[in-house]
Amino acid sequence: MTEKIINLLKSNAATSKQLQLATGYSQAVVSRKLRKLGDKVITLDQQRPPQYLLSGDAFGVGNKVPISLTNHDGELCLVGFLRPIKPKGFYYESNDKTSKVLLGGNKGLFTDLPYYLDDLRPQGFLGRQIAKKMSRISEEFPTKSSYWNSNQIGRFIIANNDDLTGNIALGEQPLLRLKKKPKTTKRSEYATIANEIMQGEIFGSSAGGEQPKFTAFNHELQSHVIVKFSPKGESEIAHRWRDVLLSEHHANQALNSISVEAAQTHVFEQGGRLFLESIRFDRKSMFGKCPMISLQAIDSEFVGSGENWLKTGQKLVQLKLMQVQYLSTIKLLSAFGSLINNTDMHLGNLSLTFNNKEFKPLPIYDMCSMGFAPKASEVHAFSFTPSPIKSLELEDNEEVKIKRAIGCFWKGLANDKRLSKEFRKFIKAHP
Ligand SMILES: Nc1ncnc2c1ncn2[C@@H]1O[C@H](COP(=O)(O)OP(=O)(O)OP(=O)(O)O)[C@@H](O)[C@H]1O
Ligand SMILES: [Mg+2]
Repeated sequence: MTEKIINLLKSNAATSKQLQLATGYSQAVVSRKLRKLGDKVITLDQQRPPQYLLSGDAFGVGNKVPISLTNHDGELCLVGFLRPIKPKGFYYESNDKTSKVLLGGNKGLFTDLPYYLDDLRPQGFLGRQIAKKMSRISEEFPTKSSYWNSNQIGRFIIANNDDLTGNIALGEQPLLRLKKKPKTTKRSEYATIANEIMQGEIFGSSAGGEQPKFTAFNHELQSHVIVKFSPKGESEIAHRWRDVLLSEHHANQALNSISVEAAQTHVFEQGGRLFLESIRFDRKSMFGKCPMISLQAIDSEFVGSGENWLKTGQKLVQLKLMQVQYLSTIKLLSAFGSLINNTDMHLGNLSLTFNNKEFKPLPIYDMCSMGFAPKASEVHAFSFTPSPIKSLELEDNEEVKIKRAIGCFWKGLANDKRLSKEFRKFIKAHP
């Protein structure tokens, strides 16, 4: 009988010695019974002496849930298993014990879903629509994804692997699924898609962010893209959102011109809206994927500061989870953002890629003059006084680069025919 051992492990992890003391069994009997329990028991063998935990079922798929990473060719590679722990938590049983990133800050133990899976919970504008649709499919899903528990998030991730940000897959389903070509979309169809989205249709993946958007596989580029769009028409609000989207495009151009990687974007007007199309850097051609985790999720696991890009980055360097050279990139991005009135540099607006050992910043996205955006449906007159560049504590060479990028940004924006008269006037008056 293994019942005594199960009952003991139900509430706490235990070593063999502790199990022997509590049950009165010999070491050999405890070992035999633990072996007999098979996958019902998790062995933490990197601890000395090894500890044993009781595993339970999760997401309706058992107690050993595969975790895989999709590579650039679209092939999935099994890297480990997610083991639900009783009474609470998860253990990442890695095939590769050196994986510092996926093991998290506590040797594979997590009090809830691992941070990189929680990051895949539907978020923002599209997330709200997905949660509503999921609640229609199954009433077990709350209509708001912020209310989803780890079981609901896990079930959603398993069933919707193709659409998720980054390259992490959960469960056996994605490993067995046959590759299906994504539906291709032409630019000429964007206006129709945007109209459908605004009427509540879901289009593409669960990418986060509050602004209206959709994802698609673009026919002309043969690339996966994420497309944000302005409100339709000529209202003051619509014009202001166009200005903000244009500022994002010119910010990307300016940053790329000083070799600070930013998303590759294209802007165009169609059907009374302005579209900002951004090539997805977490995808490679049709099937390939690349790792991507938000700094917010990484911060919550390893740092817990929740403050700003640079502070979290500095902590990651101290923890040997990121190379020091990337701090300069993050510093340049923060400085650039503060000089173009980006009031929205939260930890969800920077993402990192990873290998086994460490993280590295991905190209920047959502870098725009958000401070000029309508607030609670009100449009305010353009007003912005940037901090003096000296207050940003840049090295001399960084200051030179930033001045170049800022010059390029305002010039590019002022010369863009699609910009509103008011914004152009403001830029001209503030050289
Ligand atoms: N080029 C890209 N490649 C891959 N992922 C991207 C790209 N651009 C954006 N994303 C992902 O999509 C999410 C939403 O995009 P973005 O931040 O631009 O939207 P938003 O609605 O402006 O966000 P916010 O709520 O911060 O204002 C991002 O958090 C990021 O995860
Ligand atoms: Mg964003």
